[in-house]
Amino acid sequence: MSSAVRIPDGFLDELKARIRPSDVIGRKVKLTKKGKEWVGLSPFTNEKTPSFYVNDQKRIFKCFSSGMGGDVISFVMETERLSFMEAVDKLAEEAGMELPKADPQAAEVYDHRKRLQEVCEAAAAYYEDRLQSSEGAAAREYLEGRGLKPMAWKRHRLGFAPDDWHKTGVHLKQLGFTSDEILEAGLAKTSDRGGEPYDAFRGRLMFPIPDSRGGIIAFGGRGLTPDAKPKYLNSGDTPLFHKSRVLYRYKAAREALGHGEGGGLIVCEGYMDAIALTEAGFGQAVAPLGTALTEDQINLLWRAGPEPVLCFDGDRAGLGAAYRAIDRALPHVEPGRSLFFVLLPDGMDPDDLIRERGPAAMGEALDGKIALSELLWQRERDAEPLDTPERQAGLEARLMGAAAQIKHPGVKAAYERDLKARMRDHFWQIRQSKRKSNFTPGKGRGGDTGSAGPAAVAQVQAAGRTRPGVLLLLQAVLNPSILSGMEELLIAADFRNEISNGLRDLIVDFLIEDQDLTLDAVLQSLARQGHEKEIAQIDLKNISNIRLNDPAYRSWKAAVEAFIPVDTTPTADDEVRRLKLKRRLVAERRKAFEERVLLDQQEKAMGKANIGDFWKKFEEQNPWFKGDASGSS
Ligand code: UTP
Ligand code: MN
Repeated sequence: MSSAVRIPDGFLDELKARIRPSDVIGRKVKLTKKGKEWVGLSPFTNEKTPSFYVNDQKRIFKCFSSGMGGDVISFVMETERLSFMEAVDKLAEEAGMELPKADPQAAEVYDHRKRLQEVCEAAAAYYEDRLQSSEGAAAREYLEGRGLKPMAWKRHRLGFAPDDWHKTGVHLKQLGFTSDEILEAGLAKTSDRGGEPYDAFRGRLMFPIPDSRGGIIAFGGRGLTPDAKPKYLNSGDTPLFHKSRVLYRYKAAREALGHGEGGGLIVCEGYMDAIALTEAGFGQAVAPLGTALTEDQINLLWRAGPEPVLCFDGDRAGLGAAYRAIDRALPHVEPGRSLFFVLLPDGMDPDDLIRERGPAAMGEALDGKIALSELLWQRERDAEPLDTPERQAGLEARLMGAAAQIKHPGVKAAYERDLKARMRDHFWQIRQSKRKSNFTPGKGRGGDTGSAGPAAVAQVQAAGRTRPGVLLLLQAVLNPSILSGMEELLIAADFRNEISNGLRDLIVDFLIEDQDLTLDAVLQSLARQGHEKEIAQIDLKNISNIRLNDPAYRSWKAAVEAFIPVDTTPTADDEVRRLKLKRRLVAERRKAFEERVLLDQQEKAMGKANIGDFWKKFEEQNPWFKGDASGSS
């Protein structure tokens, strides 16, 4: 045999199916979404206007400036100057697929696996046939009783395993499979008492489990009577099947979801749930196989879409399972890789809910999905009462500990901010409700100042004719603590009038220079910019009356976020402004960072100051900076 590696049938198809072209190409070329496609500057020419397209659905790229085009393999070959095999090898590793090694044994292993898959396929066909036969009568009745029609049986290839110790094995041997093959595929078991192997599945409703290419690799079998032990019997692990790495219906669900549309798969707990969801119009449903979701399975979910939704029964067990999934996923969340959760009402599973209340009720439940960060917050908040400072500190420690699990620095920082804000809101509410119960209405502090969340925005609107942008920004000047970490937000905001944007730039300036921000200083600067008239109209007394309590921080942030333009192309001027500010911001942070590093090094008397390395580290910790703010001004 030559040393050439043999690429098994279907390997390339699966490889291309697993890899999203925009993920791989996006690392080389800065891509922006344009409708269903991604667009960027050609990596092959020096073009100035983008004419390089990536289409995730069609799994191809097309470069109009060079005329090149192809799939993700040819892209890697072209841009990294690799041979076909080298490119396949590289992508396969990334996709978690193993290319058979270049030895004759590997080909044999491959042929053996193929053979095992053929036994499973033959068994699936046999079980389907038996479901239609006279011995399948009880199973058919059971399915009808659960609301599944013959069309659905066919779609999911449901079957019936005869209630007999040898019938399936005998049938498979007649088709030419050996006892060893049948055993190894998990369809038979060896007898402890010597004698012939016996059929693993007997008298059960059969759910064939396809792999990510659609070939059958294992089975789940449900007993037809309530006393069947176990209720569901699954194939044990075999050379083809590792239950912790497989999701039931993965291939079909992925196809139903489509590519690059956002969203994600729906994960439910059981076979019947996945089928019920599909039949109700939620074809993107998958299920693990009777175990808690593993990291491998979570990665499979993310390969299909950025934000899978995990559906659990709304009972204690379901909540526990959701909590476990949080811990599994947390280290691996990234921009475009998270989880959402749905806890179903009244202890129902999706199958129950759809049967009792219809697909619309299921749709509503899915619409009510909550983010990973929200469920994490709820979990820790509800873990114990928060009535003492010690317990409150405990909550903070738990939340920050959870955030520390996140490997992605940007997402970790965002979690820390988000969780701290939730904590502040919550403690404030606790204090507020205590206060309410201590004071009689009408006495003490009025209920109008210092009101929470949305009320702060309402106050802004009520504060006269002054422009909302100016009011929002002056609020921040009076409460500078809400500005911490808000630089990028402010840089991105466009308040759509000169005075507000002028004020915004002043504040950003102060933040970048790390100077003390005072109302006087800000108003004087604005006056110098020619806004005296408008300043005179500002009802300063009213503004300085607004005392932002911490909960307002979030509504303040939300109010500013509302000024961030979406879907509009910024003008060149605005782009330049943002870039300049961002560069300055980065430069300042870099300076502070380097100073700190130098100080550290001096203290430790390490002697060797290598700013380059530390700068690299800084970039890693501030990934938002990379890319668009680089280059020279
Ligand atoms: P459940 O016991 O929650 O049942 O099992 P279910 O899915 O609602 O099933 P029905 O509606 O009673 O038919 C959820 C999943 O856990 C695994 C199976 O994969 C099942 O689909 N399981 C359950 C087992 O592997 N073994 C069992 O004995 C029970
Ligand atoms: Mn059920």
